[in-house]
Amino acid sequence: MPKLVVNVDHIATIRQARLARVPDPVHAAFLAELGGAEGIIVHLREDRRHINDRDVELIRKTVQTNLHLEMAATQEMQSIALATEPHMVCLVPEKRQELTTEGGLNLVGQEERFKEFLEPIHARNIHSSLFIDAEPHQIQAAAEIGAEFIEIHTGHFADAHTENERGVQLQRILEGITTARGLGLKVNLGHGLNYTNIKAFDRIPDIREYSIGHSIVARASILGMEQAVRDMVDIIRTFAE
Ligand code: PXP
Repeated sequence: MPKLVVNVDHIATIRQARLARVPDPVHAAFLAELGGAEGIIVHLREDRRHINDRDVELIRKTVQTNLHLEMAATQEMQSIALATEPHMVCLVPEKRQELTTEGGLNLVGQEERFKEFLEPIHARNIHSSLFIDAEPHQIQAAAEIGAEFIEIHTGHFADAHTENERGVQLQRILEGITTARGLGLKVNLGHGLNYTNIKAFDRIPDIREYSIGHSIVARASILGMEQAVRDMVDIIRTFAE
């Protein structure tokens, strides 16, 4: 059975919009686990725009399942990963100006660099994943690097504007899964997956995990709105005239 691993970055995005203390991604991680998430993901960005070091530390201490740390392949992040010892490290490309991760890593020609980067991580028995597009040469490079997992970028599929384009992107992903399996890589999927488009992956074998954040946080905020307003109304109604 594939697992759902929930990314709680955007709970922190709401907190950071006011530089406040709530909502706390630590609480969100706890509730996600109660809901059945089999892992929690946080992306610690270089600019700490949402998740910060304190979140990573506390979520690492409090998760009952697994923590996956998404990060760029920098020295700073390597040190944090080694100090935190998450269950898995997922390497992603990172650009300061982007709204979200825009595409997969370019591993081709950088196999040695990534291999060296992952060496101390593997030495600590931390699992590794490389976030890449479903391109055969990137998948081949991931296998050469010796990562255990790849996470295939589903963003182009999710963003497709036409049925035809969606079909083309889905086919690329399915072929990528087959190629990866042939090379002994385990496959996760992530980016832009929601309650509708995920149905395309029903009955597709060899998908280990779905990494999903934004659509779950979006749904949580809407489904919780009525109760949140009711709670405030209830307080105000108790006020004396
Ligand atoms: N996987 C990776 C590598 C990502 O960078 C992200 C976004 O942080 C996700 C999965 C989750 O994407 P979304 O928030 O669109 O579900």
